[in-house]
Order: sequence, then C-alpha cells, then structure tokens
Amino acid sequence: MILRKASAKASAPAKIILFGEHFVVYENPAILASINRRVNVRVNLNKTQKINITSDLGIMASYTDSKFNLIRGGRNTKTILDPLYKCARDVLLERKQNLGLDINLISEVPYGIGLGSSAACCVATVAAVDSLFHKPEKQWICAKAIESERLVHKNSSGADCYVSTFGGLMSYTKKKGFNKIESRKDLSLIVVNIGIKHSTGSLVSSVKKFREWNVLLFKDLSSYADNICKKAVSAINIGDEKKVGKLMNENHTLLQQLGISHRKIDQMVNICVGNGALGAKLTGAGGGGSMIALIPTENKRKVISEIKKNRYECIPVKIDYDGLLVH
Ligand code: PMV
Repeated sequence: MILRKASAKASAPAKIILFGEHFVVYENPAILASINRRVNVRVNLNKTQKINITSDLGIMASYTDSKFNLIRGGRNTKTILDPLYKCARDVLLERKQNLGLDINLISEVPYGIGLGSSAACCVATVAAVDSLFHKPEKQWICAKAIESERLVHKNSSGADCYVSTFGGLMSYTKKKGFNKIESRKDLSLIVVNIGIKHSTGSLVSSVKKFREWNVLLFKDLSSYADNICKKAVSAINIGDEKKVGKLMNENHTLLQQLGISHRKIDQMVNICVGNGALGAKLTGAGGGGSMIALIPTENKRKVISEIKKNRYECIPVKIDYDGLLVH
C-alpha cells in the first residue's frame, strides 16, 4: 500500500452511557451518547522503525518489535499505552508497512472515570495511523479499535468504540450493532466526577461473578434493564424528559443491586434528585468513576451549586454528533 502522507491527525469523542451498562456485555441493549470532550491524536513518520507514544498524562514509551521501553511515567504507563501500540502495529501489519511512528495524544477526557477515554484513544489512534495510507473507513476503524480495547478489558461489549466512532445518541447491542436515536429535545445533562478512578476490567469481572452466583436474579435484572432501554428509546424520541429521568433512577437501582455503585455516587445521585434533577445514575463501569444527571434548565444552577458545595467536579456536557474526525 502506498503512503499518502507523512503525518496525520484524528480526534474521537468521549461518551456517557445513559442506560444499560454492564447488561450490554451479556447481549442486552445499552443507550449511549458521545459528548463534546475529545481525544486528539497526531501521528508523524520517523526514521527509526520505533513506535514512540507520548500522552499528555505525562507518560511516554518507545516500542521496538513489540518490546516496551519506558521513557517517562509510572507503573501504569504500560497498561495505558499497550492498547495504543497494538492499534498502530495492527494497522501497519494490515497495510504491510514496516515504519517508525511518533504518536502524540492530547486528551480533554479525564482518564479512568467511565467516560470512555481508552476507547476514544484507540479509535483516534487507529484512524490517524490508517489515514497515512488509506481514506478512513469508520466500520473498519471501529473493529480494529475494539480489538485493542480488549487489552484493557477482554469482555468489552464494543459499545464505547462504536459511539466514539459514529457519534450521536444511539442504542447498541453486541449482536446487532447500533441504531441512531432521534431526540425531539436536547437532553440537558451534566457529568459529576466522583474523584475515584476505577478499573473497568475488575468491575466487569465482579459482575461476571455476581451473574454466576445469582443466575435467576441476574436474569430478572437483565430483563428489567432491557425493558428500561426500550421505554427510554420511546421517551427520548418524543422528548419526554420526566420519563427519561424516572427511567435513569430505575436503572441506577439495578446497578446498585449488581453491587457496582459506590457510597459517594449514591450520595451524589440523592443530592441531584433532591435538588431538582429529573433523574441521576452512575455511568460506565461504576465503583467510583462518574455519574450523570438530567436536569431541567431552571434547576441546573441549584443542582450544580450543591455538587460544588460537596467539592465534586461538575462537567456540563453536550451530545456530540460528529463522532470520529480525521483532519
Ligand atoms: O467505564 P467505562 O467507560 O469503561 O464503560 C464500561 C461499560 C461496561 O458496560 C461496564 C463494559 C462494556 O464493555 O460495555
């Protein structure tokens, strides 16, 4: 394959899960939205045959024939950068190229708080590297990003990579892929960073154990979650925010039953709902991370001020309709 250019840039958005996290790993639907926070990746050819990866998290590594060499950063540098190396190496293998690359990531997405930063990094890295050789093709990029994201947690549903690649509001199942959801009204959402980093892999494993030990209960919870998603699609379609909020609260109760919420998330959910949010729930893998709240404009100031009084970071978000962008 012929080299089209010597450098390329791509960016991919973070995401929130409105409904159905964890259950989506077991073939249930989930409802997700990409949000207006991006990971930006720049790739330049180098003359060394090494793949050097730098991130604004303050970490850097160099890979020579899959061998990891730490240049800057702590113990988790390898865990964070290995999937990105795999993204780049797999594209080079597929395009039959043996080149050195400098890959630079700049992220507006906090890491490890359930906003899909690792998926956005993988999507943007595959896209930037592939666009050196090829006109980007979103479905292919998404599939490659999912393979690399499986280094982060091997049972990934793929939902995060889909929403980051294709953007917007969507319902997703592992088997059938995604369907865009039309919304009559913009959902007025905020994200609250609980300030506790989580490991998606270990939370997904703890749900796996829960499912093995509580077969019938898990089946019931899954069918309840499935029902919530179906009702939520209709409520979003017609712009019934009250219904969407009520369903978010119900979904949060299911996640509490799975044992993956956190005392601080529950406290914030109660504060949001008690001060005028229509609904609130954890988003993503849980165990800390982030929560989301749906708040009518007239109550937003009050809710945000209560969150800040409790010293949590509050991130107002808008839904992103672009998904992956290759610049
Ligand atoms: O917390 P995050 O952004 O890694 O989201 C994980 C979502 C899960 O449903 C828990 C796992 C998955 O693969 O869908």
